[in-house]
Amino acid sequence: MPIESSPSAPRPRVLSGIQPTADSFHLGNYLGALRQWVALQDTHDAFYCIVDLHAITMEHDPQTLRRRTRVAAAQLFAIGLDPERSTVFVQSQVPEHAELQWVLSCLTGFGEASRMTQFKDKSAKQGTSAASVGLFTYPILQAADILLYQADQVPVGEDQRQHLELTRTLAQRFNHRFGETFVAPEAYIPKATAKITDLQEPTAKMSKSSSSPQGILDLLDEPGSVRKKIMRAVTDTGTEIKADEVNKPGVTNLLRIHSALSGTSVEDLERRFEGQGYGALKKELAQIVLDTFEPIRERTAKLLADEGELDRMLMVGADRAREVARQTMGTVRDRVGFLGRD
Ligand code: TYM
Repeated sequence: MPIESSPSAPRPRVLSGIQPTADSFHLGNYLGALRQWVALQDTHDAFYCIVDLHAITMEHDPQTLRRRTRVAAAQLFAIGLDPERSTVFVQSQVPEHAELQWVLSCLTGFGEASRMTQFKDKSAKQGTSAASVGLFTYPILQAADILLYQADQVPVGEDQRQHLELTRTLAQRFNHRFGETFVAPEAYIPKATAKITDLQEPTAKMSKSSSSPQGILDLLDEPGSVRKKIMRAVTDTGTEIKADEVNKPGVTNLLRIHSALSGTSVEDLERRFEGQGYGALKKELAQIVLDTFEPIRERTAKLLADEGELDRMLMVGADRAREVARQTMGTVRDRVGFLGRD
């Protein structure tokens, strides 16, 4: 699946985004997306965006948003994104995102936007008439994020697939109507980690909006809390350690997490844990998770101790992103028929 790049050819481009809507990223974010972000910076021209415009589609508190945006940035650098190799930036610091979103929203059908399942789920929770128009147009802003940078690939979890299909459709529609302008991007979704599930409700995806914090492993959780959550994870009837998504979703999730972090295949794990109880698997998994999380937690704290430097790093990213965004938007403005500005 990864695109090979030769030294002479320009690197393919990736773009992805994450919302600053929690005090920590969780294991689903990490395995489903962020780990791929780090790997791709070696082979791709990488743009990664903290999507604070998306974060205000639900009611929010300004101080909390500002704090979480910095916590998000610190975690991204702490997991290994290198500001030399990746352009890491905050969406609202590049005004072209909102500008392109408007143009794309004029190309999106009302019915088409109404079919987005994430909107249906999120708006159902608060009552459809209470949901904001911003929540409704959320996927169009996401399409703008991606298309502005002419991204070839978008590393995300399975839950974003429908939004990426809309992005491709909008790129093709624009190109058809106004002439070749946008790259139609591909989703980059490695199967093994496409959907990490909730430890308490192993058929639902791990999500910050899930009902119990006990089901979510946060990157910045205290070690004691990580251990407790894993040891108390819901497992299935029977005692056998075997991957079986339908009959044993809890154990399957734990095996997948172990495999993704340890590099041991699920089959090898099944063999190694044969005859042992769930407790043995959980104990080993807790240690493996902590070995990953602890260095990230320490580095995040260090980065957050110097907010000035963190803000400066983000501005460097925003300046670099803006150069590309401005160029794309210049073409879009011209193609659509707006008068020149500069
Ligand atoms: P967000 O902030 O909800 O999640 C960030 C990334 O984490 C992935 N993810 C998961 N992967 C596997 N298992 C899980 N349980 C799990 N939970 C979350 C998500 O798929 C995502 O890749 N709409 C996006 C943000 C966005 C974006 C973009 C993404 C805005 N603009 C442009 C890509 C490109 C979102 O809400 O992600």
